[in-house]
Amino acid sequence: MTRVLGIETSCDETSAAVLEGTGDDATLRSLVILSQDVHRVFGGVVPEIASRAHVTAIVPVVERALADAGGTLGDIDAVAVTHAPGLVGALLVGVSFAKSLAFARAIPVVGVHHMEGHLFATTIEHGDALPPFTALLVSGGHTMLLDVERWGSYRLLGATRDDAAGEAFDKVAKLLGLPYPGGRHIEALAREGDAERFRFARPMLRRDQQPGDADYFDVSFSGLKTAVLHAVRGAALPPSPSDGPDPVRAERAAIAASFQAALIDTLAEKTARAARLFRRERVVLGGGVACNRALAARVAEAVASSGARVFAPSPRLATDNAAMIARAGLFRLESGEQASLDLNAYPSLPIPGLIAA
Ligand code: KG4
Ligand code: ZN
Repeated sequence: MTRVLGIETSCDETSAAVLEGTGDDATLRSLVILSQDVHRVFGGVVPEIASRAHVTAIVPVVERALADAGGTLGDIDAVAVTHAPGLVGALLVGVSFAKSLAFARAIPVVGVHHMEGHLFATTIEHGDALPPFTALLVSGGHTMLLDVERWGSYRLLGATRDDAAGEAFDKVAKLLGLPYPGGRHIEALAREGDAERFRFARPMLRRDQQPGDADYFDVSFSGLKTAVLHAVRGAALPPSPSDGPDPVRAERAAIAASFQAALIDTLAEKTARAARLFRRERVVLGGGVACNRALAARVAEAVASSGARVFAPSPRLATDNAAMIARAGLFRLESGEQASLDLNAYPSLPIPGLIAA
């Protein structure tokens, strides 16, 4: 059994976790996530501020994760750290810290790809969310549809051609005057809105698309975002909701609901196509947008006819966290991987283990 300390600092969460296990039998012992609220006032993540906040938080966050796991640094067998993709200055805080720790304790350190972390997050709570499966990873920076035959072997079927799904949620939230990050605010507002009011075209989704067509699995959200902008202008919404009663709340809610429906219809149908083509019995959702209950429900509906089961992580494991990094790190360590002390951080890097589509 290996006890892994996971560290995640790729964006605006400073997170550490302790996970122990062998193979697919892994147990999470602790997870600490410190979200940097400071970015809220800027309406987006400010890289320099993120790096500095990680420097301030990393020691107490790691100490807390070790204490919550009921142990000390002496009980840790290896360190797993996100080394790509993300904000390079933010990543470097975690990478430098992890390397120093591993050097001081003379234990292995392994670099983990952030998106491979998201791929492993769901299995931490759902023991059955194991390969082979179809995976839809939807975060603030990435949108990927993958066929996962086994851990470490990833067929990239589709991706976004422009905005990531989470980015589309955040931009539309901004148009509607909602706080950053906007995904959960859109979901909440959409619940009271009429999703049929605005018939936004389902982006890049047509019935005549065939497997092998370049757009069969790919998605695109920038056109949808523009359609929302026109709807907002047409509805003459004020730039931000007033503190008092919102006279155009129903209009806002209808835009949020119609936008969300268009986006999740596209993601759900493309995910169902992938599950059908590869005859997968399991579909795994990951990334911050996987917090969205309407998305999980719509994917379940789309795959219902083929009988596939859909697994979605709880919000704590769907958004950025170190538990998923420790879990993916355990797999990488058991595969014989180990980084040397020149492990570096990269703003972008393909997910490891990609095989030809
Ligand atoms: O995976 P994540 O925590 O960070 C990245 O790696 O990017 O994803 C953050 C994204 C944000 O765009 C946020 O708006 C979105 O996940 N998100 C949601 C929901 N909760 C978070 N999007 C839609 N519905 C939600 N409930
Ligand atoms: Zn993420």
